Amino acid sequence: MNKSVMITGINGLLGQNIVREFSRDHDIYGLDLTPGIFGSSSNIKVKQLDLNDVKALDDYVELVRPDSIIHTAAYTNVDRAEEDEDIAFAVNGLVPASIAQIGKKFDIPLVHISTDYVFSGDSGPYKETDTRDARGKYSESKLAGERAVLESGAEVAVIRPNVMYGHGKNLKSSFVEWLLTELRNERSVRIVDDQYNNPTYARRLAAVIRVVLDQKAWDIWHFGSKEVVSRYTFALKIADTFGLSSALINAISTVDLNQKAPRPMRSGLICEKLKKELTIPIMSIDEELALLKEEMHVS
Ligand SMILES: NC(=O)c1ccc[n+]([C@@H]2O[C@H](COP(=O)([O-])OP(=O)(O)OC[C@H]3O[C@@H](n4cnc5c(N)ncnc54)[C@H](OP(=O)(O)O)[C@@H]3O)[C@@H](O)[C@H]2O)c1
Repeated sequence: MNKSVMITGINGLLGQNIVREFSRDHDIYGLDLTPGIFGSSSNIKVKQLDLNDVKALDDYVELVRPDSIIHTAAYTNVDRAEEDEDIAFAVNGLVPASIAQIGKKFDIPLVHISTDYVFSGDSGPYKETDTRDARGKYSESKLAGERAVLESGAEVAVIRPNVMYGHGKNLKSSFVEWLLTELRNERSVRIVDDQYNNPTYARRLAAVIRVVLDQKAWDIWHFGSKEVVSRYTFALKIADTFGLSSALINAISTVDLNQKAPRPMRSGLICEKLKKELTIPIMSIDEELALLKEEMHVS
């Protein structure tokens, strides 16, 4: 009999990639606000459920009793969170706390997806044990959620990605796909050259989640690519991988964007622990972009 996994935020970028990783040998129970792209097949069941409804969530978990829970759902609009503080805090802070308690009650392990935004972004890249110091409402809400699951006493792994990218269907925001569309249509783009991180490829993150669950690695893990680069350099690498002209990519500063929420400027995640303890190779950005290109069937 297949093992089963419950995935929150199944329609999102990471949710879709987790389905691809797990559906070959797992029964999938997906939750999201909308029906999304999957429909229902023999081993993928999707239920529309607002995770703020803790009673409905509790009832659903009791009904399906998954072997594990992967919590990817979040309020992810960083700038809008500055105004929608209460909604962001409910989804990113309180929901993870409820999920961890439900997991504990039914003895189901949880993988919780956090973010590099729990750090200030003043002096990255960061190790798992570095001091957390969130700036801005989205970051504070995600830190509250991370704290709650870690303090819950449940079997929990927290994985922190940064600047996640990948392939999926009907996604609302994907930096790579947006950039490819702009460059293919010969439109010039302005990309910040003063925000640094080591982007996380969603497809490989999904594989990392499987290893963490298989090895019962209840701990905090960082996962990104080998090198820390500016967003501008990342954009150049994307153009290069997909054979598009980089002449349309213009470097700007973060202040030019006038964004509502602060951004971590010197971020990035040191992934040595994952590499050593879980023997997961950390790849270069070029290697992972080549995998993405293959995944997107672009020749
Ligand atoms: N993307 C990044 O660059 C990045 C970087 C670091 C960490 N992360 C973290 O990684 C995780 C996955 O990110 P992602 O990019 O895959 O996010 P995403 O594409 O925005 O997907 C999140 C999904 O959760 C759903 N959702 C939101 N509120 C919900 C609720 N109350 N009940 C049920 N479903 C709800 C969303 O629905 P709607 O679309 O309808 O709202 C969406 O389908 C998040 O925890 C995020 O904080 C992301």
